[in-house]
Amino acid sequence: MLAKTMHGLEDVLAKELRQLGAMNIKPVKRGVTFEGDLGFLYKANLWLRTALRILVPIGNFKVRNEDEIYKRVKEMPWEDHFDVDKTIMVNATIFSEKFTHSLFIAQKVKDAIVDRFRERTGHRPSVDTQNPDIRIDIYIHNENVIMSLDSSGHSLHRRGYRCQADVAPINEVLAAGILKLIDWKGMAHMIDPMCGSGTFLIEAALIAHNIPPGVFRKDFAFKNWKNYDAELHDFLFEKALEKEKNFYYTIQGFDMDNRVLAKAEENIENALMTDQISTSQADFMEFETDQEIKKPGIIVFNPPYGVKFEANIPELYNGIGNTLKHKFPGYTAWMITSSAEGLKHVGLKPSKKIKLYNAKLESWLVRYDLYEGSRKRKGSE
Ligand SMILES: C[S@@+](CC[C@H](N)C(=O)[O-])C[C@H]1O[C@@H](n2cnc3c(N)ncnc32)[C@H](O)[C@@H]1O
Repeated sequence: MLAKTMHGLEDVLAKELRQLGAMNIKPVKRGVTFEGDLGFLYKANLWLRTALRILVPIGNFKVRNEDEIYKRVKEMPWEDHFDVDKTIMVNATIFSEKFTHSLFIAQKVKDAIVDRFRERTGHRPSVDTQNPDIRIDIYIHNENVIMSLDSSGHSLHRRGYRCQADVAPINEVLAAGILKLIDWKGMAHMIDPMCGSGTFLIEAALIAHNIPPGVFRKDFAFKNWKNYDAELHDFLFEKALEKEKNFYYTIQGFDMDNRVLAKAEENIENALMTDQISTSQADFMEFETDQEIKKPGIIVFNPPYGVKFEANIPELYNGIGNTLKHKFPGYTAWMITSSAEGLKHVGLKPSKKIKLYNAKLESWLVRYDLYEGSRKRKGSE
């Protein structure tokens, strides 16, 4: 099988797969291949925090032209995989000099499947490009073809807790990937000072409580397959719920915009995390707490980059640096940003810098160790 992910999260996903019990794990570009049985496929869809979708290969062959693709696809026993009343969609990914038009190839594959059903049953499956029951994937590298069924359906970042957000949320898979990269296990207090719709807060709480990210999601494409084993799926779901752990620290979100905080609160409620996560309005530039900040603590956030949100980047990042330095001694702060200019104005030296992509934007996940008292004293004596 192939679990797809984002650039930079391959090793994190491989580790997740190892911990879940996959066999023969191999990281590839923006994905990880592995082996497992049907139960493992259900577990992977339920538990993997950094996978976008999981493909199950069902055919592997070589072709020289488009007609051969049609012929080979038509020979495959599609009726063994799904019924004719299911809606279908074909996705084509092509790395080949010979084949260049992915839409045309997708069309050919769709025609082959539809023609096979029509010839055998007198009926044909309908196409639905928005919400298909069955997603079919063709991957061509030069002349080599891999046909797969997509077991997930909608991308797995759609956890099922998010209300319609008109803010610029970070993708759930990226947020979870960052939390995994920084080794968040729920052994400290967590703050997101610019929490927006609350993605880091919720993903952090799910990890801290060992709750699978797919627990709120009803739709998985594998449920529309002929081999769907509802009893096995229900059993694995119930088993997953038993693995919940206690979490003894706090998770707090702040944002200066009350409108986005309302979305965060709705999402937190949907994720059944209102007892675990608190949110309040605060401008990070003038951050004040009436209590002493709780320790040990960790800060994770993605500030505006100046792309979707207009911002005075030098002033914003300079303010971020000042607040971190003066208000959070003893904390470790992790920030992801695509603003190279912003990073120059923080005024703190990152102790770690990891390159990632936020959507298509090249970004850096940077770590700041915020020392108690003067660093000079610590370092030079
Ligand atoms: C890129 S968004 C964060 C998105 C968030 N991670 C999510 O998943 O929805 C940046 C957020 O920073 C907030 N923000 C900008 N300047 C701020 C400041 N000075 N203090 C607090 N929040 C601020 C914005 O209101 C916005 O919600």
